[in-house]
Amino acid sequence: MEKFVIMGGKRLVGEVTISGAKNAAVAVIPAALLVEGVCRIENVPSIKDVDVIVDILKYLGAKVKYTDSHSLEINCERVRSFSAPYELTDRMRASYYLIGALLGRFNHAEVPPPGGCNFGCRPIDMHIKGFEALGAKVSFDRGVIEAHATKLQAAQVFMDIVSVGATINIMLAAVRAEGTTVIENAAKEPHVVDVANFLNAMGADVKGAGTDIIKIRGVGKLSGGTYTIIPDQIEAGTFMIAAAATAGDVLVKNVIPKHMESITAKLIEMNARVEEFDDSIRVSREGELQKANVKTLPYPGFPTDLQPQIVALLSAVPGTSVITESVWDNRFQYVSELRRFGAQINVDGRVAVIEGVEQLTGAPVRATDLRAGASMVIAALMAQGVTEIYDLRHIDRGYEDLEDKLRRLGAQIVRKNDDTADMVGEVV
Ligand code: EPZ
Repeated sequence: MEKFVIMGGKRLVGEVTISGAKNAAVAVIPAALLVEGVCRIENVPSIKDVDVIVDILKYLGAKVKYTDSHSLEINCERVRSFSAPYELTDRMRASYYLIGALLGRFNHAEVPPPGGCNFGCRPIDMHIKGFEALGAKVSFDRGVIEAHATKLQAAQVFMDIVSVGATINIMLAAVRAEGTTVIENAAKEPHVVDVANFLNAMGADVKGAGTDIIKIRGVGKLSGGTYTIIPDQIEAGTFMIAAAATAGDVLVKNVIPKHMESITAKLIEMNARVEEFDDSIRVSREGELQKANVKTLPYPGFPTDLQPQIVALLSAVPGTSVITESVWDNRFQYVSELRRFGAQINVDGRVAVIEGVEQLTGAPVRATDLRAGASMVIAALMAQGVTEIYDLRHIDRGYEDLEDKLRRLGAQIVRKNDDTADMVGEVV
């Protein structure tokens, strides 16, 4: 089994370049199914979730090739299948975008429900409500969600809860429907805007993405074009937090500073130094960090996908910090792993109370999900001694070359096979 072995206590210093956004890529790539022409997609992150969604498109009959390590050329003109295979859809959550994209293209989709839950139940009832509003009949039979419409008709859809996935999925289904669909109380995350921009670049007519009302005027056909995916807000935030955690000095490059505002503000509140440039952010630290309270919220609030990372950081900041998770029901499962470092954290439902300790101590731990994995890495970078992190498959789903990027900043981190006989102390 692969693991990271990290010797803590090293300051991160230097520059790191952020990859394309995972949560944009996993929506933009299936959105190519709507396009009858060639889509050139640039700044595609090299991560497992992208590999899986590319494999699904190929399975459906798309021609997909990499023109360089981060650029994809996708041609879905000859796709005739609307039925996605369980073996692949089960490997990622974002496979639910296949429903909107296939329904939008063929008026028919057969897709197994998305892969397992790591932090509580993840319903897709609002996606389904949106498809039904557009005129589709949606059923669930023998492990497959089937959506079918004789014809998709524009509709007015009010989202009961702000949902990134449902907003994007309804957008995908509506892009070729007849008339103008209006999504109210839409999610405003940067990747929602990115998908709308991609669709417009391919010939769609989507207005208002980034506000809470999105209007999609159906067009007959999308015919192709070139699009560059935005930088990953969460990867950037992870490096910003890691820089502050190690009292480092890191220039985080290829970011959109506007997307980072809630993280920048929180780190400044905690006494880190954050300087913004056109497309980069420098994070450094002069004094001690201060405790802080954090509440996760839909964009532009503090992202839930950075909650585990900031909890790791605050677990070694003296004083009491209170973290409220208001997006997911059950996103503190990883806390039991952080306690192995000596962190003192009590969880009651959606609230975690952290009593910051002077020093974390390295320990063997697991990445229980993707962002929990990033949290373990940050704790390990701060901790005294050696940490081993298992279950790297979660981290590999969403972070490109994490260990190389960290090593170039001065971290002592190696990826090892657990069967390798070397002593931990010799390899880090
Ligand atoms: C996206 O998930 C992200 N994933 C998640 O990132 C992220 O945590 C989440 O948005 C919130 O920002 C992708 O973009 C692929 P939601 P999504 O629908 O779209 C409830 C990561 O680590 N809800 O915005 O699935 C839901 O239970 C991942 O990169 C319903 O009740 O999240 C949750 O409480 C993890 N019914 C809230 O809405 C629905 O039909 C927000 O979920 C849909 C959602």
